[in-house]
Amino acid sequence: MGWWWILIGLISYVNALPSCKFYGSSKTIVSCKPGDSDYILVRGLVSDNNRTTKIILRGCRITDVEYESFENLPALKYLDLSQNAIRFLKLGALDDALEVRHLNLSYNLLTQFPLGLFDQKTKLTTLDLTGNVLVSFELGIFDTLPKLKSFYLSTNSFVGEDLNPYLFDQNPNLSILDFSRNDMSASPDNLLHALYNLETLNLDRTFLTAVPKFATAANLKSLKNLILSTNQIKRIDSPTVFINLDNLKVLDLSQNNLEFIHENTFKPLRNLVGIILRSNKLTHLPENLFQNVPKLINIELSHNQLKTVSIDHFKGTSLKNLNLSDNKIIFLPENFCLELQNIDIILAKLYFLPNPWECACMNELINEVKTMNILYDGGDFDGAHQVCVVKDKFVCDRTL
Ligand SMILES: *[C@@H]1O[C@H](CO)[C@@H](O)[C@H](O)[C@H]1NC(C)=O
Ligand SMILES: *[C@@H]1O[C@H](CO)[C@@H](O)[C@H](O)[C@H]1NC(C)=O
Ligand SMILES: *[C@@H]1O[C@H](CO)[C@@H](O)[C@H](O)[C@H]1NC(C)=O
Ligand SMILES: *[C@@H]1O[C@H](CO)[C@@H](O)[C@H](O)[C@H]1NC(C)=O
Repeated sequence: MGWWWILIGLISYVNALPSCKFYGSSKTIVSCKPGDSDYILVRGLVSDNNRTTKIILRGCRITDVEYESFENLPALKYLDLSQNAIRFLKLGALDDALEVRHLNLSYNLLTQFPLGLFDQKTKLTTLDLTGNVLVSFELGIFDTLPKLKSFYLSTNSFVGEDLNPYLFDQNPNLSILDFSRNDMSASPDNLLHALYNLETLNLDRTFLTAVPKFATAANLKSLKNLILSTNQIKRIDSPTVFINLDNLKVLDLSQNNLEFIHENTFKPLRNLVGIILRSNKLTHLPENLFQNVPKLINIELSHNQLKTVSIDHFKGTSLKNLNLSDNKIIFLPENFCLELQNIDIILAKLYFLPNPWECACMNELINEVKTMNILYDGGDFDGAHQVCVVKDKFVCDRTL
């Protein structure tokens, strides 16, 4: 009787440990699978190996990390502790493994860090803290990470208003910064004042009601991708909001409540390649909104309330791909694609369905895109969908 219980005890003890295996041609990658109960990481599971370069402890039911868990891992570059249940990392828990470049702590239950936690991670280039419940950061906590390039802070519990603008002062090489899904609405204007190499700033779902000053400051000339999607921006009244962003390539303003954009808003964006205005409330576009934005290739205007667009809208751009899906378009100007060609705009793709097209007008356009070999959204022409409204005439009537 007794031995039986000991055996069960032994089996469940053994199963409580994550099981780790070595992978890769020279067995330098360690990847672990969870045991069937929670686990406190201790020295011995992945530590003490001169060859290990990569440790994957993703989803291993780890609740805590003991000191020396990463002792003697001189070659370790990549550490993935994501999808565990770590609430707190005590000071020293991440010590050793001085060569780590990539640290993934995403999807844990972390609320804050003790000052000094990252002191031995001076070579870090990527830090992923997405999906925790971080409420605040002590000033100086990231000061030992001068090489940090990619920093993910999405989906946490802090508010931008409480962030200290000196928090990133020692991270001059930050290139990707992800604040998405946090309330960044009242962040200090100088929050990113120390960054001169930022290329991607993600502010998706951050409760913004206006384009924030901290995202468009003069030191952010390096910015290439600015993501402002899924916010509540209603108007862009100032023509100078983007005046500093000379190098911006993609501006994503999708899923806001935009009704008004000042006609000169995009003028300073000399290097803009794509603008995403999908899912807003635009009923009409100022004639020169995109004009003379010389490198603009992609314009995404789907899910708005536009009735038509004109040739002049696109003068002086490099437009190739235009998405007008799901607007209120009944017709486009006569010979739309050809007229564009006459001002040196050769469309490659034109998306114009669904819209409340007048059939005669749509047919004209379809003939054009077919003869000119322009890709279009033909999926709905299967006979099952009604794609246009038949009026009592055979020629397109262009009176609104
Ligand atoms: C790692 O390398 C050091 C120095 O070369 C050696 O002293 C130590 O025994 C090695 N440890 C392991 C676990 O191989
Ligand atoms: C971190 O881990 C999460 C979940 O395991 C993964 O989705 C994410 O891509 C990782 N982050 C980085 C920067 O590789
Ligand atoms: C920052 O990046 C530049 C250019 O890549 C590099 O020369 C410099 O050494 C980096 N600074 C740090 C602290 O890593
Ligand atoms: C155009 O917009 C529609 C609606 O948002 C979307 O489904 C489609 O994928 C877009 N097409 C391209 C090429 O972006």
